[in-house]
Amino acid sequence: MPDVTLTTLNKLKQNGEKIVCLTAYDATFAHLESQAGVEVILVGDSLGMVLQGHDSTLPVTVEDMVYHTRSVRRGNAGAFIMADLPFMSYATPDQAIQSSAQLMRAGAHMVKIEGAGWLAPTVTSLVRNGVPVCVHLGLTPQTVNVLGGYKVQGREEAQARALVDDASALEAAGASMLLLECVPSALADEITRSVRVPVIGIGAGSGTDGQVLVVHDLLGLSISGRLPKFVKNFMIGAPDVPSALRNYVDAVKRVEFPAPEHEF
Ligand code: KIV
Repeated sequence: MPDVTLTTLNKLKQNGEKIVCLTAYDATFAHLESQAGVEVILVGDSLGMVLQGHDSTLPVTVEDMVYHTRSVRRGNAGAFIMADLPFMSYATPDQAIQSSAQLMRAGAHMVKIEGAGWLAPTVTSLVRNGVPVCVHLGLTPQTVNVLGGYKVQGREEAQARALVDDASALEAAGASMLLLECVPSALADEITRSVRVPVIGIGAGSGTDGQVLVVHDLLGLSISGRLPKFVKNFMIGAPDVPSALRNYVDAVKRVEFPAPEHEF
């Protein structure tokens, strides 16, 4: 497959073809995923939980993200690499520029930041400096202590309206992509239709422009032994990991995943 760029992703949205995104933290998985047809590899700060064993993403540092982004870049065969700016590394636009410079030099094609409409000045400043930005909305794990737990967001009307307004403000500020986590499917559909940029979902139903999962979840690997409601274990019925990855890509492209039982 030719190298995936923002132009490719925008065309997929325009053509109504689903975008497949998956986390990877090392060269081997980056290679397997890009060969399987994953278009966007997310070097997620979820690595703090699934690799480092923390109970949240808060301990992850920019140095950690640089190390894993470099590893992913070496194994990648053409996917678009998005890397998370970790907790407290983009508290001001200037700090966001310094942190993003490190991730882009390590091989990221885009950074992802978590928050809401108040990030608009940070987005504009990053884009002006050559850094494409995805904004992660809804359940934002870096603010788990403010949210009071990992809960579905946007169930109340006022919260839902605020999310729609934030999405439009962030697109106007220059965001090239949005990611919605754990929001009701009807709200995710409305946001996806209301912006021109691609919207990737996790726990946001099948109406978003693309899907993302944490690769450990997709492979049924979990320290607690439990998987979130929005996850499907693609190892079930697959003879090996590359087949499970291909089955995930096919299921997203055919709009068979997520199914109604994975939605809120
Ligand atoms: O860090 C991560 O893996 C993420 C996904 C859960 C979307 O942000």
